Amino acid sequence: MLALAPMEGLVDHHMRELLTQGNGFDHCVTEFLRVTNQLLPERAFHRICPESANHWKTPSGTPVHLQLLGNDVAAMTDNACRAAALGAPAVDVNFGCPMFVRNAQKSINSGRNADNKVNRCGESYGGSILLQYPDEIHQLMSHIRKALPAHVPLTAKMRLGYEDKSLAIENAQAIESAGVNQLCIHARTKTEGYKPPAHWHYIARIKQHVHMPVIANGEIWTLDDYKLCKQESECEHIMLGRGAVANPNLAKQIQLFENGLQHSESPWQDRLQDLIWMIDELSINGKDIQVQGKIKQWVSFMKFRYQEANEFFKLAKKLKTPNELRDFISPLASNKQ
Ligand SMILES: Cc1cc2nc3c(=O)[nH]c(=O)nc-3n(C[C@H](O)[C@H](O)[C@H](O)COP(=O)(O)O)c2cc1C
Repeated sequence: MLALAPMEGLVDHHMRELLTQGNGFDHCVTEFLRVTNQLLPERAFHRICPESANHWKTPSGTPVHLQLLGNDVAAMTDNACRAAALGAPAVDVNFGCPMFVRNAQKSINSGRNADNKVNRCGESYGGSILLQYPDEIHQLMSHIRKALPAHVPLTAKMRLGYEDKSLAIENAQAIESAGVNQLCIHARTKTEGYKPPAHWHYIARIKQHVHMPVIANGEIWTLDDYKLCKQESECEHIMLGRGAVANPNLAKQIQLFENGLQHSESPWQDRLQDLIWMIDELSINGKDIQVQGKIKQWVSFMKFRYQEANEFFKLAKKLKTPNELRDFISPLASNKQ
């Protein structure tokens, strides 16, 4: 099974549409929906997942799971149930993002309790900060699981830990014993951020202590990375993040490999076509500055995989409007190599 990672500010419905066009992914996940202490209006769910109007599937038919981020047990449960009532095929809870704290900045900054825990009384927070408190994770997920209709899978996405990996197994067990159906593990701690390497072998260690399906994630940029990650993590299920954004052809390449077929690298020319498609999509509703920002952001990820993206970035960053961008890219895209 191959999944597309949730990526806030990067993988929105436009990007999901593009990246699932080749049908290489089995599912994708929305950007996180932030939950404080209340039930969010239905429009918040539709905004984060416009595909909800298409039975929670991208135009090519790939299911889109909804991700929630928060710690308020009642509010998270209510929102998970609302997602299910609106037809979400699965609800995912985020224990990976660096930190989300509302009204808590003061207490976070102002010190720690005697047991060195961040003082979080009465505050709203979520993401990887919870990895310091497996009991709290267990309570949250148990509550959601009990309230959510049985046919809707509840999944979780965690890092290996907050500052260190000492609670990695405990957190995975806390998640499993809450009745969670599937766990995705980004093989780095919050402190490790996005710095390579991802510790895939650590996922294999966690897997020895849980029985639920585990998805391995982190630092997969190429088919060879994918093969190595599967080997080291001992996982059949994999999630691609930035690697899929940098090379939208990666999922297809992996799918063909899994089916015993060869697939060559897709050329820079294909990426230019993708960029034109994205400019057209974004400019339907987006302001010029937003279109330019999104395109720049995407090309900066492509630099990881395509040398051509470096030169392109230098030239294209001066272009301000979608028309200027399109006029610049079109002749390059139609140039046969
Ligand atoms: C820009 C960006 C936004 C992200 N947003 C989310 C998010 O909303 N929810 C989440 O669980 N993880 C989020 N992540 C983490 C990714 O899902 C993934 O775990 C991480 O990028 C590691 O995978 P990769 O090395 O293949 O990119 C984000 C990562 C990036 C780079």
